[in-house]
Amino acid sequence: MASFSDALPMKDASPIKIVALISGNGSNLQAIIDAIAERGLNAKICAVISNIEQAYGLQRASKAGIPAVWIDHKKYSNREQFDQALIEAIDPYQPDLIVLAGFMRILTEPFVCHYQGRLINIHPSLLPRFRGLNTHQRVIEEGDSEHGASIHFVTPDLDGGPVIVQARISVEANDSAETLAQKVQQQEHKIYPQVVEWFCDNRIRLNQNKVYLDGNELHDRGYSPPI
Ligand code: GAR
Repeated sequence: MASFSDALPMKDASPIKIVALISGNGSNLQAIIDAIAERGLNAKICAVISNIEQAYGLQRASKAGIPAVWIDHKKYSNREQFDQALIEAIDPYQPDLIVLAGFMRILTEPFVCHYQGRLINIHPSLLPRFRGLNTHQRVIEEGDSEHGASIHFVTPDLDGGPVIVQARISVEANDSAETLAQKVQQQEHKIYPQVVEWFCDNRIRLNQNKVYLDGNELHDRGYSPPI
């Protein structure tokens, strides 16, 4: 007779391997590092790679004992060659998940396809609204009443991949691009570790350009956590 424990899904004890790509401050990286340590997420960040030597996120990585790698995109004559160098740096770690955490480079289709289903990005807007740069300023200029952050699977369509989760904030009359950036980042630091945890627990999946959480398809705007 099957026991109760036979009915439970097998939990793989080995942590999921993550490589994070950054270009700057790395506060989202820090939120993930902290969540792994404090909440005991079953994940290991194997390396942090930056295209910018001075990126503070590289220091955060070193402080946490994570290999910090700088690959200067200016040394490569085109995007394809830089992306190939990135692949060569990432693949030896055999990552289960590649986390773009403020990585400010457009990635080529071969790179994106190479990591399909295990490449995620955080973007400071409620996608599909405000793809690209200067999202906070554009929110003010357009007079939007709500704003936020999105985490999505990366596809060759820039900032256009299927959304996993969105966090919303309301835009007040006295908000500036700076105050919006602060409020959005507070939310980012909650949702990025949450999504990493879902990956650790094998709860999230991309199939035919659709996102599934616990086997249920997430529609247009992904999961919306309670505010
Ligand atoms: C984050 O706000 C993230 O949403 C944004 O860069 C910031 C990085 O902050 N990403 C993009 O704009 C990607 N298009 P951090 O370095 O402190 O994590």
